[in-house]
Amino acid sequence: MSAFAYRNGVMHAESVPLSKIAAEVGTPFYCYSTAALEAHYSAYAGAFAGQDADVCYAVKANSNLAVIRAFARLGAGADVVSGGEMRRALAGGIPAGKIIFSGVGKTREEMRAALEAGIHQINVESIPEVEALSEVAVSLGVTAPIAFRVNPDVDAKTHAKIATGKKENKFGVDYDHAREVYAQAAKLPGIKPVAIAVHIGSQLTDLAPFRAAYERVAALLHVLREDGHDITRLDLGGGLGIVYKHEAPPDIADYAAMVKSITGNLGCRISLEPGRSLVGNAGILVSRVIYLKQGLHRRFVIIDAAMNDLIRPTLYEAYHGIVPVIEPAKGAATEPYDVVGPVCESGDTFALQRALPAMARDELVAILSAGAYGAVMSSTYNTRPLIPEVLVNGDRFSVIRPRVSVEELLALDRVPDWLKD
Ligand code: LLP
Repeated sequence: MSAFAYRNGVMHAESVPLSKIAAEVGTPFYCYSTAALEAHYSAYAGAFAGQDADVCYAVKANSNLAVIRAFARLGAGADVVSGGEMRRALAGGIPAGKIIFSGVGKTREEMRAALEAGIHQINVESIPEVEALSEVAVSLGVTAPIAFRVNPDVDAKTHAKIATGKKENKFGVDYDHAREVYAQAAKLPGIKPVAIAVHIGSQLTDLAPFRAAYERVAALLHVLREDGHDITRLDLGGGLGIVYKHEAPPDIADYAAMVKSITGNLGCRISLEPGRSLVGNAGILVSRVIYLKQGLHRRFVIIDAAMNDLIRPTLYEAYHGIVPVIEPAKGAATEPYDVVGPVCESGDTFALQRALPAMARDELVAILSAGAYGAVMSSTYNTRPLIPEVLVNGDRFSVIRPRVSVEELLALDRVPDWLKD
């Protein structure tokens, strides 16, 4: 579904005109739709209804407490990758028993916090890590339920920076060594291997790599059970892609059917860790045109959002749709524009030679599909304070993170006494 559409000539988020939000909170700002968040979650829950499956929202995609809360209310679990994200998930109302802690480099402090909270599962990625976890668990007098994240050496066919399932990637334990790694871990005090985890990458638009990875996991499950491990859960990771432009990602129902065909008879509880597919198309970034500038060969639209606010185009050459908030006349002519931000880097570019209707100074534009890996990856580079996040629900909207002021930013710095004279 798209919660963002033109109505009476103005792009709305659900029933709220974006121009109204812009007038109240200023630009740029992120805007999310509650209806879209709920619809995307329900699509997962519905597709997996017949399976013993938990949807553990990958909080990294958008960790605003209100977003987490919206999913928590629907019964979601969470996949977290830091002590900070775990605290967000708990603060958002996700019970510890539904939280999975993933990530390649957990510190002992994070392990302690996770075990003290009593979380569902810790996904470990190496022998040194499981040894550390064992020590922490013993010191607390508890047993840590773990999965190893296995690296199945499958090509996810996605952007190299977000592919994680090839053997040259830093993630997981090598598939071929998984058996001995489980054997070693099972001997450690305070450790109980209960699951196998896999996550091969993000923005996958084809089912085949998922299927290949899950078949390898199923084969490993049989081997581990023969070795006497009581494995009762499979964590299948996230990664389902969304439409940014003309992609045709698999339907969630087809994905669920594929999962069932592989895992249906294994007697395992399934965890899913979707991030992008829950929030990506539930959010946009609204920005204002500051200037139009005619270069020698190019026409630039300089907007008030920049790479520090949304880094995906700069980092991954990612495509994001860009549309005017005021609906252009039907059949209006388009011109090629480079849409850029004010940051002092050539990489601060949202789109190159993008066909847009004639742009005007001060007009609002919406950068689409920005709900995932948008606000969470922002920085204050160029001393540009973090921008607000707004959540719409029907005809209401709330600021779920206010704009940070320059004063607040400066107040974080300390000038030592010895520099003050
Ligand atoms: N589980 C694990 C262990 C992960 O590492 C990730 C994402 C997910 C689940 C969620 O994947 P999703 O369903 O969102 O694809 N910043 C990049 C994406 C990085 C993804 C990292 N891991 C981007 O903007 O495209």
